[in-house]
Amino acid sequence: MTDSRDTLFADPASDRGLFTFDEDVARVFPDMIKRSVPGYPTIISMTGLLAGKYAIADSNLYDLGCSLGASTLAMRHAIRQPGCRIIAVDNSPDMLQRCRSIIETDTHETPVDLHCANLQDVAVANASVVILNFTLQFVPPGQRDQVISGIYAGMQPGGILVLSEKLSFNDKRLDDLNIELHHQFKRANGYSDLEVAAKRTALETVLVPETLQQHRHRLVSAGFSSCDVWFQCFNFASLVALK
Ligand SMILES: C[S@@+](CC[C@H](N)C(=O)[O-])C[C@H]1O[C@@H](n2cnc3c(N)ncnc32)[C@H](O)[C@@H]1O
Repeated sequence: MTDSRDTLFADPASDRGLFTFDEDVARVFPDMIKRSVPGYPTIISMTGLLAGKYAIADSNLYDLGCSLGASTLAMRHAIRQPGCRIIAVDNSPDMLQRCRSIIETDTHETPVDLHCANLQDVAVANASVVILNFTLQFVPPGQRDQVISGIYAGMQPGGILVLSEKLSFNDKRLDDLNIELHHQFKRANGYSDLEVAAKRTALETVLVPETLQQHRHRLVSAGFSSCDVWFQCFNFASLVALK
């Protein structure tokens, strides 16, 4: 099945207001994220590889901010340990509804529980793998420390957290360069200048990026003694943190 083309920000006359994960976004989401996030397909497939390596028998694997379930399915297809359960959480009913129908067409036997909830309210427990792929950036910054500490507390020793985020940079010239390179990436993928600008405005106060230093500091403060970047392209990076 081909993905519906994202043209949500193409019409200069339609002001969509602040970005939300509504029905329109859910419909075009696979096309939108592939054309907007450098390295997204790599990050999703490596999420599967990492989950396959770190899944522990009879444990839970969490996909927090699961959207349409790309990371959930990558994990589901890679798990080799018995007794695992995937818990996928998203607070958008429109995203979760589509996610449910996608998961229902997948026949792998590992159970998947889908929850429509704020990830801040989810009590992570008995976790060997936790995935936060491009989700923490949407959580209010003041709540992020508590989210990461809660995840750490609910993980088994030897477990892994994968944290993928859009980044900002303290160095203004590097920040400007990476924003410009990201916009070039989007234009190369068929978005017009107008679409790039309109989406940027819509996301301005909704997606709040942090620096790599802030992420590392939060992970170490929560107790993750080993953490590092395993992937970066421009202002998008993915970190692993080991308990
Ligand atoms: C950029 S998408 C994540 C993409 C997805 N992880 C993937 O790899 O395909 C962000 C998702 O996080 C969800 N989200 C944002 N804030 C959330 C929160 N506080 N609790 C749960 N889900 C949240 C949104 O509804 C959206 O589906």
